Amino acid sequence: MADEAPIVHKGLDSVYVTESSICKVDGTEGKLYYRGYPIEEIAENSSYEEVAYLLIYGKLPKRNELDSFIAQLKAERDLPQGIIEMIASNAAKADPMDVLRTAVSSLSLYDNEAADSSKEANIRKTIRLISKMSSIVATIGRYRNGGGYVSPDAKLSHSENFLYMLNGAKPAPEQHKPVEMMFILQAEHSSNASTFSTLVTGSTLSDLYSAVTSGIGTLKGPLHGGADEEALRMMYTIGDPSNTENYINEALAGKKRIMGFGHRVYKTYDPRARVIKGYLLSLQSNSSEEVRRLTEIALRGEKLMIEKLGQSHGIWPNVDFFAGPVYVSAGIKVELFTPLFAASRISGWCAHMLEYWSDNKLIRPLEQYTGQIGLKYVPIDKR
Ligand code: CMC
Repeated sequence: MADEAPIVHKGLDSVYVTESSICKVDGTEGKLYYRGYPIEEIAENSSYEEVAYLLIYGKLPKRNELDSFIAQLKAERDLPQGIIEMIASNAAKADPMDVLRTAVSSLSLYDNEAADSSKEANIRKTIRLISKMSSIVATIGRYRNGGGYVSPDAKLSHSENFLYMLNGAKPAPEQHKPVEMMFILQAEHSSNASTFSTLVTGSTLSDLYSAVTSGIGTLKGPLHGGADEEALRMMYTIGDPSNTENYINEALAGKKRIMGFGHRVYKTYDPRARVIKGYLLSLQSNSSEEVRRLTEIALRGEKLMIEKLGQSHGIWPNVDFFAGPVYVSAGIKVELFTPLFAASRISGWCAHMLEYWSDNKLIRPLEQYTGQIGLKYVPIDKR
């Protein structure tokens, strides 16, 4: 009897690869939960440090637990001199995601515990990575702006310190608030492509730095984390709000994708996009002319896309669509959006890796072979 053809799930669409208690994405209802807590409540009440704790340890910390966790993060903020020098010589000319990926990979060279695969060492490395990735992204931005290394300030929170190391000055609340919000909203999102590639690497029992380096490379792509940069670039190309409808209609007619819309799991409005949009609208007249113009373009684009592709095709705004104007309001340049996404998602990547390693299984899917078999080898001169 001939073998039945296997069902091929292109892009692993609808395939469950593991069990996890870290994050629930309800793509039908448009809900997101970190360890059971609705994202709206977390975004309203939590800090990034608390979110990182929640993701890693599976529960909200008590006051003393959070204080101790924050102290551990603060102790890990500074960067090795070799990493600073690598950033200094590459930041101005290279893609910030390439510099980030290289820097994170190189961190293992400065970590005596890099090859220690015990759970305790992996938690310490997780804390190191959360802390240092934020410092790396800030330092990349700093050198791109022509500045030098700014040593971390232990009096500041995680995201305040990020802005301090980026700008060399303590942030005003209107800069800090949106960055903190984005840190929280991008921290985790179940088995998205970058988390999955982190797990694939880690599942071979490779080390945490290698696994996270895979995640960063995966996040870079415009179908994933890179979409926030592309969405803002599109808004700048549109230029004036009155051009929005024309631009989008032409793009769709030319079969182009509108970045910041659509999702593999959400077939309705992404709840993170709602929170980000809400923040943007709350700025109103307090924002700059540029942010108001970008907001108007985003709102017109959102309306048109929902009319055209929302209900009919399940293509709705995702986390990346309104992120651009929000980052602009905080003075963050577009090329730092995806590195910042990575600096936030590191908590999720590591939480998943720690969970997966507690019951590891090599990830090795199959592919259906469609080529020939049994060919006779032909020597090179006879082909
Ligand atoms: N604009 C226009 N058409 C779209 C879009 C979009 N943003 N997204 C999907 N489509 C169309 C696509 O062209 C295809 O049409 P057809 O069937 O006629 O060929 C159909 O919808 C299905 O697309 P798909 O790529 O097969 O579906 P998917 O579930 O794999 O798509 C996606 C998910 C995120 C890759 C896709 O929606 C997309 O490319 N979006 C734009 C990029 C983006 O915003 N990515 C960020 C995702 S959320 C944050 C993150 O993951 O980092």
